[in-house]
Amino acid sequence: MQQNPQSFKTRLDKPSLDGLFVWYAEMRQSPVFYDSERESWMVFRYPDVKRVLSEWQTFSSHILHPPEQTDFTQSLNFTDPPKHRSLRSLAQQVFNPHRVEQLIPRMTAITHELLDRVAEHGQMDFMQNLAIPVPIIIIAEILGIPLEDREDFKRWSDGIVTLDPIALQSMGDYFRDLIKQRRGKPSHDLISDLIAAHEGGEKLTAQELVDFCIVLLVGGNETTTNLLGNAILCFNEYPKVFEQLKNEPSLLPLAIEEVLRYRSSIQAMQRITTVETQLGGQTIPVGQMVTVWLGAANRDETQFEQADTFMVDRNPNPHLAFGNGIHFCLGAPLARLEGKIVLSAVLKRLPNLHIDPTATLELIPSSDVHGVKSLPIFF
Ligand code: HEM
Repeated sequence: MQQNPQSFKTRLDKPSLDGLFVWYAEMRQSPVFYDSERESWMVFRYPDVKRVLSEWQTFSSHILHPPEQTDFTQSLNFTDPPKHRSLRSLAQQVFNPHRVEQLIPRMTAITHELLDRVAEHGQMDFMQNLAIPVPIIIIAEILGIPLEDREDFKRWSDGIVTLDPIALQSMGDYFRDLIKQRRGKPSHDLISDLIAAHEGGEKLTAQELVDFCIVLLVGGNETTTNLLGNAILCFNEYPKVFEQLKNEPSLLPLAIEEVLRYRSSIQAMQRITTVETQLGGQTIPVGQMVTVWLGAANRDETQFEQADTFMVDRNPNPHLAFGNGIHFCLGAPLARLEGKIVLSAVLKRLPNLHIDPTATLELIPSSDVHGVKSLPIFF
């Protein structure tokens, strides 16, 4: 069994905005190995990552087991077919592109309200003032969360990303209560629609409802926040791209795909093997954790020409930032739309935007997500 070519910890000890991508380039040379610190097989090359994601029969998503976690184990991202198929089909009935498109006026208004608040100052923290609040407000509105509870939401959502059991419990209890209220008195929100949704006569159980609400919050907030912040990092690194987008805003959807590839919000995800299998010349036994590095696959030169260059009009762009196969991100249409609305407002209203040159940009301390804690900008 091939072991750590370079300790995982070493990489985390020296976090820098681009150190990660240098490390990936090295890791793609020794494509699959076992990391004893992380107790997981590590997979970096595009074809291997794509295969793990698409072969759910061999690489299961069922990685959480009660009593380790009580809430969240029935969430669609942690289940395999046939359970996953029925959960996903119910979820798609209510969380679909049509519902997302109806949100365009609200998303636009929220973005402009947040920009109005800072417009006169000529400076802001892009994360705190825009990239963090937009996705939270939107998902809270979709779910029908009362305004006064949204601060708690942000706190729990942050905690849940690190699977903090207290945050999970608090959010689970909150949703159980809200679902009870909506059962008695349905409203025009996603929770009420989920309660009503059936698939072949089957309804979501109370636990599945709670877990679905949690996955929407957890899956949708930090990822979209980082898509927005990472876009600014890309524009700062490639000022000509920012100029080009101001002149040709129709390029924005392609630019967003390139941000997703170049600085993927989710860098790594886990699976567990259901049988012994061969991958990258290694034999992986049954029951082993496998970590796929989306961020490394998205910089793989064998798949992407000039992979370490941000090409604003890269097309096609078959990045894996939203995953691949049956678990492909359910929120991708929402994330793309939020990206388009917020970034087109930025191009119009903050045409002279630049990152404070004196700022030290600090990465979020997690190996699985990529983004900065704060992003002071002048405009
Ligand atoms: C830039 C933003 C986003 C990124 C990069 C992202 C990325 C991903 C990835 C990589 C997966 C696959 C997980 C796996 O295979 O185990 C996924 C699944 C998922 N995402 Fe997203 N996501 C984003 C935004 C959103 C939003 C806005 C929502 C909803 C509000 C959302 C909801 C979900 C759900 C429910 C799943 C599970 C789907 C399934 O297992 O069938 N995501 N996302």
